[in-house]
Amino acid sequence: MRIMPLETRGISTSRLILGCMPFGGEWNDAPITEEHVLQAEKAVDAALSIGISMFDHADIYTRGKAEQTFGRILQARPGMREQIVIQSKCGIRFGNDDVPGRFDFSKEHILESVNGILQRLGTDYLDVLLLHRPDPLMEPDEVAEAFGKLKSSGKVRYFGVSNMSAAQIRYLEQALPESLVVNQLELSLERLDFLDQGVHVNQKAGTSVNFSEGLMEYCQSNRIQIQAWGPLAQGKFSGRPLDDQPENIRATAALVQQMAHDKGTTPEAIVLGWLMRHPAKIQPVIGTINPERIRACRDAESQSRMMTRDEWYKLYVSSRGVNLP
Ligand SMILES: NC(=O)c1ccc[n+]([C@@H]2O[C@H](COP(=O)([O-])OP(=O)(O)OC[C@H]3O[C@@H](n4cnc5c(N)ncnc54)[C@H](OP(=O)(O)O)[C@@H]3O)[C@@H](O)[C@H]2O)c1
Repeated sequence: MRIMPLETRGISTSRLILGCMPFGGEWNDAPITEEHVLQAEKAVDAALSIGISMFDHADIYTRGKAEQTFGRILQARPGMREQIVIQSKCGIRFGNDDVPGRFDFSKEHILESVNGILQRLGTDYLDVLLLHRPDPLMEPDEVAEAFGKLKSSGKVRYFGVSNMSAAQIRYLEQALPESLVVNQLELSLERLDFLDQGVHVNQKAGTSVNFSEGLMEYCQSNRIQIQAWGPLAQGKFSGRPLDDQPENIRATAALVQQMAHDKGTTPEAIVLGWLMRHPAKIQPVIGTINPERIRACRDAESQSRMMTRDEWYKLYVSSRGVNLP
């Protein structure tokens, strides 16, 4: 049986990741409260209780407060740091009155961002650093210099990207001494372009698909771990009210509920299990901070192993809302 690409790189971690984007409250300068820390602690405990050992951050999440909040938890739990895998991202800059929101892969920005991340988390090293969104002004040699400094100083162990195409990854990798280990993309039972891109080859409908051609195959061939953000589709198949949703989403939510009922599991486990059934060994980054919903994800991996081809296709075609070619 194939193992996760991350494991082949020597990074031992859980199949699910907890996304920490909402930690620390609102996306503003309001201070972190004790309530925020308690809420985050409960989410972390729920995650640990179902075997999650990897946590996803970004320097921008709640304007740095997500990392700070996580840092408070680490500080209160000596020994926890070495038992978990922490990933964060940089490369997005907020706008202000003078300049719009933008991307920045300059060496200075990457180095400065990592110093900020480490300081907020209260740790000496990051396990994985991702470049958050493609910067059209990216100079691969400059990124390589920044990565080299971060690696040799022990501040970052591995590097990856997010929301990048196969061509962008190849272009960046030419300059890097080590290949990238992660590409984090929005993939879910709702965001199906990663599958449709493949099944629409040589089809008229292919022109309507918005996914980098050959990206899944590129990552799989090169042992780049594909991580899925938005994997629960914000709860659309697992209990969120659907009044404003199209018929294919409502019908698929009903199918998910029925399957969960028949299999004695939760809708979350079916939705995530469907994603994890893909041969790329996708790692979902779940974004709920509700402890009950986190625990409802416990069976995702076992459901993925038990999901038959027919069940997988039933969910895929139902959510597409259109039969396969
Ligand atoms: N790389 C990138 O560009 C990028 C972009 C966005 C996110 N991310 C990462 O991916 C993680 C997950 O992203 P996501 O938050 O979009 O993923 P998600 O897991 O699909 O959605 C989580 C959101 O859906 C809500 N939700 C889940 N089930 C629900 C239900 N039954 N009823 C009502 N609401 C429900 C959650 O609220 P509750 O907390 O109340 O359950 C939460 O707000 C983030 O934390 C972040 O780490 C990365």
